[in-house]
Amino acid sequence: MRIILLGPPGAGKGTQARFICNAFSIPQISTGDMLRAAMKAGTPLGRQVKEVVDGGALVSDEIIVALVRERIIEPDCRGGFLFDGFPRTIPQAEALQSAGLPVDAVVEISVPDAEIIKRMSGRRIHPGSGRVYHVDFNPPATPGLDDETGEPLIQREDDAEDRVRYRLDVYRQQTQPLITFYRNLAEHTELRCLTVAGLGTVEAIQSKLASALAIESPS
Ligand code: AP5
Repeated sequence: MRIILLGPPGAGKGTQARFICNAFSIPQISTGDMLRAAMKAGTPLGRQVKEVVDGGALVSDEIIVALVRERIIEPDCRGGFLFDGFPRTIPQAEALQSAGLPVDAVVEISVPDAEIIKRMSGRRIHPGSGRVYHVDFNPPATPGLDDETGEPLIQREDDAEDRVRYRLDVYRQQTQPLITFYRNLAEHTELRCLTVAGLGTVEAIQSKLASALAIESPS
């Protein structure tokens, strides 16, 4: 199963990815997590992209496509994968098409901007795993600490309100056109394009996604 989760920053892609991956036994491929891991480790790639990622702009298609190409040939991707945050531009989607790995489902999570601003200000992440929390809507068992490792949670540099607004503009200009791109593709292929309204509790969205994908909801 090959799935793309599409949606604006803060729509809940990372939050919802895990149960879908478990249901299909596929890995989550989050280009954002991969870039942040490189930044944290201070690799040449991490140093190259830090300013762009922290500022909320998009990393070049060339870098992203190379990163994804390397990742999807790993053995855990044989049975498929879930892309979270990729593709984000038409050239990235075209590169994926030309890799000859047809996608089964594109799932868009749609959320209004005002809700996104609220969510981002309370977001906390576990940098080691990418696990996502919210101080009010999805809190960890112990405030400030990751549920599984007990390690401290952090706030992302690009979650400052001005950067979130900029990321929303970038999304509208460069990523939203992918919805039409995939709807057009679905007209003459087996691809399914699904849209789920992302307002409501994490559990409510989870059950909507589960029924759209015909899998069991854990909640
Ligand atoms: P990336 O890490 O992909 O960020 P994003 O797409 O902007 O998405 P987010 O991770 O911000 O949001 P999300 O939808 O996963 O929401 P979450 O589940 O965390 O990319 C970061 C940067 O890397 C980019 O800006 C760019 O620079 C670069 N990059 C990455 N991929 C790239 C690519 N392909 N091309 C070029 N550049 C690339 O939820 C948000 C918050 O809301 C959390 O606190 C969560 O707990 C809470 N929440 C979730 N669901 C609910 C709910 N139903 N109700 C209330 N709160 C909720």
